[in-house]
Amino acid sequence: MKGYTPEVAIATEPLFEKIKHLIPAVEWPIIAPLIYKINELKVEKNAVILAHNYQTPDIYHCVADFVGDSLQLAIQAQETEADIIVQAGVYFMAETSKLLSPEKTILIPSLEAGCSLAASINGENVRQLKRKYPGVPVVTYVNTSAEVKAEADICCTSANAIAVVEGLGVERVIMLPDEFLSKNVANLTDVEIIAWRGRCEVHEKFTANELREYRVTSPGVSILAHPECSPEVLEEADFAGSTSSLIRYVNDNRPDKVMMVTECSMSDNVSAEIGPEVEFIRPCNLCPHMKAITLENIAESLELLRYEVTIPEEISVRARRSVQEMINLGVEGRDFEKGEFKDVVIEDEVSLNSMDIPLQKSFS
Ligand code: 13P
Ligand code: SF4
Repeated sequence: MKGYTPEVAIATEPLFEKIKHLIPAVEWPIIAPLIYKINELKVEKNAVILAHNYQTPDIYHCVADFVGDSLQLAIQAQETEADIIVQAGVYFMAETSKLLSPEKTILIPSLEAGCSLAASINGENVRQLKRKYPGVPVVTYVNTSAEVKAEADICCTSANAIAVVEGLGVERVIMLPDEFLSKNVANLTDVEIIAWRGRCEVHEKFTANELREYRVTSPGVSILAHPECSPEVLEEADFAGSTSSLIRYVNDNRPDKVMMVTECSMSDNVSAEIGPEVEFIRPCNLCPHMKAITLENIAESLELLRYEVTIPEEISVRARRSVQEMINLGVEGRDFEKGEFKDVVIEDEVSLNSMDIPLQKSFS
């Protein structure tokens, strides 16, 4: 790899300008050669990097070709003409890209990049739920494994969750696996929701009390929350929506002071774009899975073509249908307005195993 040569310094100068207030100047000569190398490798291998809004600013602003929320990245994976996609995000996002672009090589730079929601449920749990609630359609959040998506009728993301649930035109749905997202959707629709006890380990940490304290210490702050937070947190926030909706809100409204109640890197990424006009108050909760992706392992991933994401054919055919159903629905994103608190049935392994659920009929 080249060192911090004049050629590297000149080529990377515009990138440094974007993030110079976010990283110490002494670090730039160390990371600039890596950024330069990744951008060269992308051209050489006909690869693109899809980065989620939670990636660190060096990845988001300096090597990513496309950035966005889960829905935008899924659509982008389908549209790109590159041969290789490096997913700077977590494993379920890489699997979703593979489902939508089976002919492309999909790489995830670290196998540590999981997700507490995806880990909360497996295919057998969904089959049990379907036996307990026969005929009730299953909507699964995109933050799930391909195995779980294969058991579902349709996927959703936080950008389109309300519209997907309502778009099914039924009175009751099973919505998996995020307890809080499901409750937040239930509060805004007449469709009855049966939820699963899964939580995002980052968003469950925020509390409504903490937000009220910020309102005292930072008067006038606009509080924006992701719908993976509890209904009490959303009730206290001024606005709630997917990661991209939160970014759009800041761009459109330019509040003097804003607090994004979500993973910390988002504030860094938006502030690098918007400049000092908006002051960011940062209640910092990091996602360890998102942070498993680094410039170093992105470079290794491109060089060694690792770690390739593969999905067994019998799962991918069914899981693709669930993701494609969501994209075909083409629903407009809907933000989370204030709702009315509703009771939601929450299932988990204990409740399923304590029930006598009839076994699936055998025709042998
Ligand atoms: P978005 O779909 O809003 O980007 O959220 C994905 C995620 O993992 C949030 O924790
Ligand atoms: Fe999963 Fe939460 Fe991390 Fe998003 S922030 S990837 S939901 S653990």
